[in-house]
Parts: sequence; C-alpha cells; structure tokens
Amino acid sequence: MDNPALANENGMELRNRPVPRTEETPARVDVDTVGIKLQRNLGLISGTSIIVGTIIGSGIFISPKGVLQETGSVGLSLIVWVAGGVLSLMGSLSYAELGTLITKSGAEYPYMMAAMGRVVAFLFAWTKIIILTPSSMAIICLTFAEYVMSLFEFCGEPQIPKKVIAAVAMVTLAIVNSWDTKLAASVQVFFTGAKLIALFIIVIGGLVWLGKGEVETLQKGFEGTTSSPSSVALAFYDALWAYDGWNNLNYITEELKNPYVNLPRANVLGVLLVTVIYVLANISYLAVLGTDGLLASSAVALEWGEVVLGKQVAIIMPLFVMCSTFGAANGALFAGVRTLYVAARENQFPEVLSYVNAKRLTPIPCIIFTIFILFPFVFLLCSLYLVVAPIIQDPRLEFLYAFLFILGGLVLYVPFVHFKIDRGCFDPVTLFVQLFLEVGPSPYVPD
Ligand code: ARG
Repeated sequence: MDNPALANENGMELRNRPVPRTEETPARVDVDTVGIKLQRNLGLISGTSIIVGTIIGSGIFISPKGVLQETGSVGLSLIVWVAGGVLSLMGSLSYAELGTLITKSGAEYPYMMAAMGRVVAFLFAWTKIIILTPSSMAIICLTFAEYVMSLFEFCGEPQIPKKVIAAVAMVTLAIVNSWDTKLAASVQVFFTGAKLIALFIIVIGGLVWLGKGEVETLQKGFEGTTSSPSSVALAFYDALWAYDGWNNLNYITEELKNPYVNLPRANVLGVLLVTVIYVLANISYLAVLGTDGLLASSAVALEWGEVVLGKQVAIIMPLFVMCSTFGAANGALFAGVRTLYVAARENQFPEVLSYVNAKRLTPIPCIIFTIFILFPFVFLLCSLYLVVAPIIQDPRLEFLYAFLFILGGLVLYVPFVHFKIDRGCFDPVTLFVQLFLEVGPSPYVPD
C-alpha cells in the first residue's frame, strides 16, 4: 500500500499526509486505510438524535408567529408547516441516496466535488467554514443565552452577559466535541430527549385543550388567507428555518456504523418525527393561545406554558428551550467541523486541519478553528508578545512614562466624566465652534 502515514514506536500512525489528488482522481482514496481516522461510533439512535436534535432548535419556539402572520390564516399556516416537512423529507431522501453513493463525510462538499469539480467544492467549503457554521452557531448560542438570561431579573437587556454566556456555551461544546465523539453523541441524545419532552408536553396539552372543546380557532379554517405569493414565500422561510438541519447526518457519514442502512433510516425517521411534532405543536399553540394570542406572543412556548401549566410551572419552558438550543448548537458544531476536516484532507485547506487527536480520536484542530476562538486568541497572544517582550528584554524609563501618560487621562475622567462637574464653562467655546463651522449635535446611539 502506498501509505504516506508516519508511525510511532507503537505502530500508531501519527501523520496522515493526504495523497495528492488530481482532477482525474477526485474521490478515489479509501479514507479508512491511511492515518488516524475518526471512528464509526454512531448508530441509528445517535444518528436520528443528530438529525432531530439539530433540526429542533429555536425555530419551533419562534417561527409559528411569523408563519401565521404571513399566511393570514390557520389553514394555510398549517399547510405551510406540513409542506415544509414534506420538502425537507424530499431533501433528506435525496441526501440518503447521495450519502450512500458517495460515502465520504462532508455532505455537499464531496457531492459538489464529484459533480462539479474541485473549484466549486472549495467555494462551498470556504463559505460553509468561514460564514455558515460559525454564524449558525452564534445565532443558536445567542438564543440560548437569551433564555438563560430570561431566568434572571436584569434591568434592560444587557449585551455583555448575553455574549459571555453564548461564548461559554460555544467553548463548552468545543471541549465536549474535542474530548470524545461518544460524549458529544451522548450530549446530543440527552438534549434531544429534553426537547422532545418539552414538545410532547406542548402536544399533549394541546390535545387535552382540544378534548375540552376548545376548537374555535381551528374552525376558522382559511378565513383571512393572504392572496400574496410573496407572503407565502416568506412564511416558508420561517418554517424552513425551523426544519433546517435535515442534511446534518450526511456531514458525518464516515462515523456512522453501517451507513448504507442507518443513513437512510435516520434521515427519514428524523424528518418524519419532526414534521409530526411541529404540526401538532402548532395546532396546540393555536388551540391554546388563539390566533390573536399567538400573533401577540413574543416567546410562544412561554406564553403557552403560562396558560396551560400556570405561571409557577411555566418556568420549565425556558429551561426546555435552553436544552433545545444547546443541543442544536452541539449538532451544528458536530457536523459543521467535518466539512473543514474533509476539505483539509483533500488538500484544499492546511493539512494540520485534517489531523485527529491520537488519544481522543477527535478532530481537535478543526473544532478550534470552527468556533472562531482561534483568531482572537492568536491576536491576543501576538499583542501581548509585542507589548511585553520589549519591556522584559530592555526595561526602559520611557515605557513607564508612556504608562503614566495613559493613566494621566484619569485626571480628566474623574472630575468631568465620572462626577460630571458642570461643564458649562465650555458653552461659549461650543457656541463659537457651532456658529463658525456650521455644525450641530449628532444623536446619541445607545448600545
Ligand atoms: N432548525 C434549527 C432551529 O430551528 C436551526 C438549524 C441551523 N442549521 C444547521 N445546519 N445547524 O434553530
């Protein structure tokens, strides 16, 4: 075998130098024969959990209002939710075929490479790695942080704690994913269970509500349906965000046990399950809150909880939404890093990004790169080096002067900014400048 991997004294292959590819031999190397590889740890349950757990995130807790608003009627909004599920199912069936035909991880990346060549595949990977995965992670983690903060009494909506919570969630997920793929899969199964319980409560509560004869809203049918095709399209955007993530298992085909069986089964099972849950959850929201209540809600699950479970018990709803978003972020990271891993293995990104940790068998370099902590961290280290190194090497009085000058700003800050000592003495100067230069004040922009 033409194996370029280097071996250590235990015979463990430590270096997986990818075999150079050409246009003629795009996807021919058996990835199982060289280097340290990611393991086939995922079965049907963890595969289905990855799909369900990534699809169900924030959308089912925020999109129902938008879909109803755009469609204008109960009937059409439910049709959009069913159609969103059917579209996703058709997508996932196509991906089941693609994934069993081309069994490499990375989903669209190897498929585009096979169909359209290396350039198009690179452009996809580049966009996915630099923009799509980190930004969906950020959106989902920020929603998670928002719900964490809803548990505490804050004045206003402070941005810094929210961003810190989102960052801590991301780093935690990065550590979990770097530690052990099985652990990341267990996290996914656990949080998928939690969000399914939440939606189960919503579905059962709705059925009980309907059983009590609260069918008035559903009887409205197609009353008020929009006639604007663009509004229907916007409604689909809302619903399809909630269904997004149905392709996620195709990013990790190489880690699936028996992918020929488990990939199609998990894809179909996952999307069908989500579709049924989404439609029933929407019926429940409508039955309990009515169209006006749903349109006026800012956090639909919370308001649903307050009506059906009472104010005290409704506190569990933000907890469930937190589980839902945390699990979805885990799924997004788990799958997203595999595009980079596969693209690096194809020589399209630095080789080190295709390396797998020898002990943990996880793609640690890709994980670190994907969650965006790499750039600020490198930047911080470089800045620290540039500041500290000259001082240590050659401590000079000038450095102290510069430091004292910076601190000197406090002489102005303390009286004028902190204690707001009357600055009226500047008024004549301000007036003169205003008249002379014909300038006026610009409005204050809050954070
Ligand atoms: N459907 C998810 C939600 O409702 C968002 C999925 C984001 N996409 C992804 N490929 N991870 O929050």
